[in-house]
Amino acid sequence: MAETPQLASEIIGLTPPDQPDERWQVRVRGLTKSFGTNLVLDSIDLDLERGKVNVILGASGAGKSVLIKHFMCLLRPDKGHIWVDGTDVLSLNPQELAKFRRKFGLVFQFSALFDSLTVEENCAFPLKEHTKKSTAEIRDIVSDRLGALGLQGTQKKYPGELSGGMRKRVGLARALVLEPEILMYDEPTTGLDPLATRNVDEMILDACERYKVTSVVISHDMASVFRIADRIAMLHNKKILAAGPANAIAQSSDPFVYEFLRASGVSAIGKLAEGGSK
Ligand SMILES: Nc1ncnc2c1ncn2[C@@H]1O[C@H](COP(=O)(O)OP(=O)(O)O)[C@@H](O)[C@H]1O
Ligand SMILES: [Mg+2]
Repeated sequence: MAETPQLASEIIGLTPPDQPDERWQVRVRGLTKSFGTNLVLDSIDLDLERGKVNVILGASGAGKSVLIKHFMCLLRPDKGHIWVDGTDVLSLNPQELAKFRRKFGLVFQFSALFDSLTVEENCAFPLKEHTKKSTAEIRDIVSDRLGALGLQGTQKKYPGELSGGMRKRVGLARALVLEPEILMYDEPTTGLDPLATRNVDEMILDACERYKVTSVVISHDMASVFRIADRIAMLHNKKILAAGPANAIAQSSDPFVYEFLRASGVSAIGKLAEGGSK
């Protein structure tokens, strides 16, 4: 099985990927996926660190969304394995899979709120679908999540009355009501201005800290990436080009990593390496 090129400073995967591991929550080995004749992912190895912000970086169409959909088995690979907390997700039957997927929360590129429902109704929706909680309990949970994200008082508003950044927050509040262990954000800042992008970055960091969630963030906004990332994996030419701690990536002397960052619009790599990463 092909080894992911890890940076020299990285020693990961000391435990077998099919064993639960304190540090690595999601473990991918040899993941290969094609759609017809279109080979999108070629033997991907990747480990996601528990409770940290794991960023997946790659050009548009590189296969980032396809990759993260495999983590919760929304897509099945042609080859390879995915383990989450030591569970082989491909071995789960439909019933087990439904339960397993509750580990995950999704925050989409466009916040995908129901326009005809209020903020409160949007956030209550997953709880009504997936739990037997009472109306009062649901109201309390929703109010708690909205409060944590600085959205108190928006309960009765409709998504159309909120700014883009606030809608993202509502999307996150909704993803948080079921207390996911792993939160996946697919391009959460695309289409936002720099100020709103900063707000969403802070929201991601805050949610990671407050709820101890493992965060997976797909992004190609470099400034944003180096503000939030604990770890970065670079997807390029169907493979993981490099993966490691954000600082190590920023400071990497690997010409391929450097070229990737340069081509992605990082003009001051040195500066990012000094102070850009948290
Ligand atoms: N359900 C699908 N059926 C066929 N091709 C798909 C499907 N989903 C994604 N693809 C293809 O996979 C490639 C990677 O897509 P995607 O993961 O969405 O890229 P991105 O890195 O922009 O998120 C693209 O060529 C896309 O057309
Ligand atoms: Mg995508």
